[in-house]
Amino acid sequence: MEFFKKDTKTAMEAIDMAQWIAFAPVVFQASVALRDLGILEAVKEGGVDGLTLEEVLKKTKLSTYGARVLMEAALGIGLLIKNNDKYSITNTGVFILNDAMTRANMDFTQDVCYAGMYTLKDSIQKAKPTGLEVFGGWKTVYEALAHLPEQAQKSWFAFDHFYSDGSFPQALPIIFKHKPKHILDIGGNTGKFTLKCVNYDPEIKMTILDLPGQLNMAKENISKAGFADRVNYHEINILDDSQKFPKGADAIWMSQFLDCFGEDEIVSILKRCHEALNPDGKVFIMETFWDRQRFKTGAFSLQMTSLYFTNIANGNSQMYDSQVFNRLIDKAGFKIQEETDNIGISHTIQVCAKK
Ligand SMILES: C[S@@+](CC[C@H](N)C(=O)[O-])C[C@H]1O[C@@H](n2cnc3c(N)ncnc32)[C@H](O)[C@@H]1O
Repeated sequence: MEFFKKDTKTAMEAIDMAQWIAFAPVVFQASVALRDLGILEAVKEGGVDGLTLEEVLKKTKLSTYGARVLMEAALGIGLLIKNNDKYSITNTGVFILNDAMTRANMDFTQDVCYAGMYTLKDSIQKAKPTGLEVFGGWKTVYEALAHLPEQAQKSWFAFDHFYSDGSFPQALPIIFKHKPKHILDIGGNTGKFTLKCVNYDPEIKMTILDLPGQLNMAKENISKAGFADRVNYHEINILDDSQKFPKGADAIWMSQFLDCFGEDEIVSILKRCHEALNPDGKVFIMETFWDRQRFKTGAFSLQMTSLYFTNIANGNSQMYDSQVFNRLIDKAGFKIQEETDNIGISHTIQVCAKK
């Protein structure tokens, strides 16, 4: 990928960047504190004229010392600027405060990943999600999901849904132009995509496959929406190869699902899709590939998210490079018939048929 072919930094830029890395956890925690303790909001309300430290104290009820150290840190980080004793917010500060994507990423990092990430080296050496121990003795985050502390669960779902929800409207016409009658929504989670499908096509029949905790949430949401009669539920632990998929569907949808697995597991899942699917059925895969991003920051976000999989999720999965991923599709007996990049913020949809 072009972004990663050359070292473009001067020595000065490189040493600056190295200090950013050296202090990155402090930068992060300071930024969360500046956001959550109301300093960024208070300074933003002060507009272009800005506010003095004393004026910020009145609005936030923080101590002089507490507000001062954070606001001085904010100058270095680039969230605030200071002129004649008055602080004003920068564009970056406004994004930290108001941008929905930044908030989803930051809350996910803070509430799901931060404490565990201290053990990232161990995760790599042991190929185990050692950071998950912060939440209990689970093997994978997916088993833990329905039982996570409230804030961690909220931030996990907000992160997951932020990316997939925005892509679903563009996915529907890509799937429904193939006129499916019965779709398996594998890893259907809380039922959001299934609900979109039953609303989009009055004839479509859906079956959600997922772990029991998530299936229960999906059942509740779908019953509340009045679609109980059009949706089936199939409890599965997909990591157990002996657990097969229901047969006879003409479409299989997997969104942000296969990235939750290691390479051999992906091949096993796709082979079971092959067995379950009607001969001319299609598999629709929606994934975020870091090498298919328009912007370097998009690739960066995905490369960092990979390490959540390493340390918290399961220890062996990632946001893939599409070239690695496509070899797995081929190995499982499928060919890619259609591919659309730039779906939503960062997704690619691949339409696969049996070879
Ligand atoms: C990242 S979420 C994606 C959810 C949804 N498809 C979306 O696009 O937002 C992955 C889903 O895979 C499910 N999953 C993970 N491991 C699983 C397993 N071993 N067996 C069955 N489902 C699993 C999770 O419960 C979760 O609902």
